[in-house]
Amino acid sequence: MNDVILRGRLLTFHDEPFGNEDDQRCFTYLEDGALLIRDGKIAAVDEFAAIQAGGGEDIDVIDHRPHLILPGFIDCHIHFPQMQVVASYAGALMEWLNRYTFVEEQKFGNQGHPEMIASAFFDELIRHGTTTAAAYCSVHKSSAQAFFAEAHARNMRMIAGKVMMDRNAPDGLLDTAQSGYDDSQALIAQWHGKGRQLYAITPRFAPTSSPEQLEMTGALVREHPDLHVQTHLCENAGEIAFVAELFPWSRDYTDVYEHYGLLGRRTLLGHCIHMTDREIGALAESGAVAVFCPTSNLFIGSGLFDLDRLRQGNVRNAIATDIGGGTSYSMLRTLDEGYKVLNIQGQRYHPLRSFYQATLGNARALALDGVIGTFAPGAEADCVVLNANATAAMRVRMATVETLVEELFLLQTMGDDRAVEEVYIAGKGAKRALKQRV
Ligand code: GUN
Ligand code: ZN
Repeated sequence: MNDVILRGRLLTFHDEPFGNEDDQRCFTYLEDGALLIRDGKIAAVDEFAAIQAGGGEDIDVIDHRPHLILPGFIDCHIHFPQMQVVASYAGALMEWLNRYTFVEEQKFGNQGHPEMIASAFFDELIRHGTTTAAAYCSVHKSSAQAFFAEAHARNMRMIAGKVMMDRNAPDGLLDTAQSGYDDSQALIAQWHGKGRQLYAITPRFAPTSSPEQLEMTGALVREHPDLHVQTHLCENAGEIAFVAELFPWSRDYTDVYEHYGLLGRRTLLGHCIHMTDREIGALAESGAVAVFCPTSNLFIGSGLFDLDRLRQGNVRNAIATDIGGGTSYSMLRTLDEGYKVLNIQGQRYHPLRSFYQATLGNARALALDGVIGTFAPGAEADCVVLNANATAAMRVRMATVETLVEELFLLQTMGDDRAVEEVYIAGKGAKRALKQRV
C-alpha cells in the first residue's frame, strides 16, 4: 500500500467565506489534524487521534506541526514561455508584447529550449506551492509537447494549450488557421486526459487571430465541448480599440468571442478590467470566468480589476499570477497584491476569502472542484505546507498573532516561497526532493 499520514494544522474550504471569522460553515480547521493519503488521493481527513485510531498505527506519519497544511495552490492564468520575460521594462501592453514577449516566445521554436524552460518552470511552481495551473504555451506545438511531457513526468494536474495566433505578430510566432487547428487536434489526442493532463483550446487574444482562425477555434470548441478555452479580454484601452478596428461589426470586445462560440463555463478570460455592462451580462449568461491577475495588471499598468462589480453582475471569478506580465510565481504575493488592488477601490478581501480563492475557489473556476483544491475524501492529494515563521521579520510579527485569520493575513502579506515548507503532488513530497536535485 502507498498509504501515508500527513499531520499538521489542517485548513480546507467547503464554500466561499463572505464575511469573517464567524463564517465557520465555509471551512474546516483542525489544530491537530491529519490526512490519510492512499494511492495519491485523500482517503480520510480528521483529527490525528481519530485517523490513528481508525487503523493508522502502522502507517508512516509525516508530522508538519506547527505548520498549516492546505490544498495546493491553483494558478488560473500563467504563460509558460515567459519565464525570461518577467521584469521587462516596458510601458503598456502592446509595447510589452511587441518589444519583449513576442521576441522571447520565438525562442521556443529552437530545439531544446522548451524542454529546458519546462524543467525550470515546474521547479518554480513547486517551490511556490502551486500544484495546478492553467498555462499558455507558445505557438509552437513543441512547446506544448515539452510542457505536458514534464508535467506528466511529475504527475502534476495541469491545464495547457499551444496558443493559436495567425496575425499581428512576428512571422516566427505565427501559425495559420489550418495549422493551429491541426496542431491543437493532435495535442488534444495525445495529451488530453493522459494521466493528470488536460488540454485548453488557446486562441491568444482577438488581435492575433484572423476571423478564419477564430472560426476554426469555434469548431474545435464544438468538437471538444468538455475542454477549457483560455484567452485574454479587455486588459488595456489600446488593445480594445485595436479589436474594434479589426472586428468593426462587433458590439464590443466580448462580442468577438461570443460570435465565434468561445464563451462557456470552461472559458477562462484573463484580465476583464475595462468591461461594459453589456459585456458583464454576456459573461454572466455564458458562465465564463473573469481571471484577476493583480501583479500583472499593476506591472503593465493595465488597471484595477473591479471584483465587486463583476460579482454583482454574477460573473464567476478566479485569481492568477499571469507570469510574465505578472511579477511573482507566488500565489501568496498574488493574494497580497489582489488585496491592495481591491482595497484601493474600497473593496474588502478577507484573508479567509483569499485562501478560499487560491484553493477551492480556483478549482471551482476550473470546474475541477471535487478533484483538486479540497481535502474532501476522493480528491487528489495535492497539498502545500505553510510556515508563518519563515523569515526573521515574519517571526517578529507572528509573536503578536493570536488567531488563524491573522496568521493567514500575515502569510499573504509577508510570505513568498520561503513560507512554503513542503509541497505534495498526489501524496508525494516534491519541494524538499527538489532541493536535493539542485
Ligand atoms: N494579451 C495577449 N497576450 C498576452 C500576454 O502574453 N500577456 C498579457 N498580460 N496579455 C496578453
Ligand atoms: Zn496572459
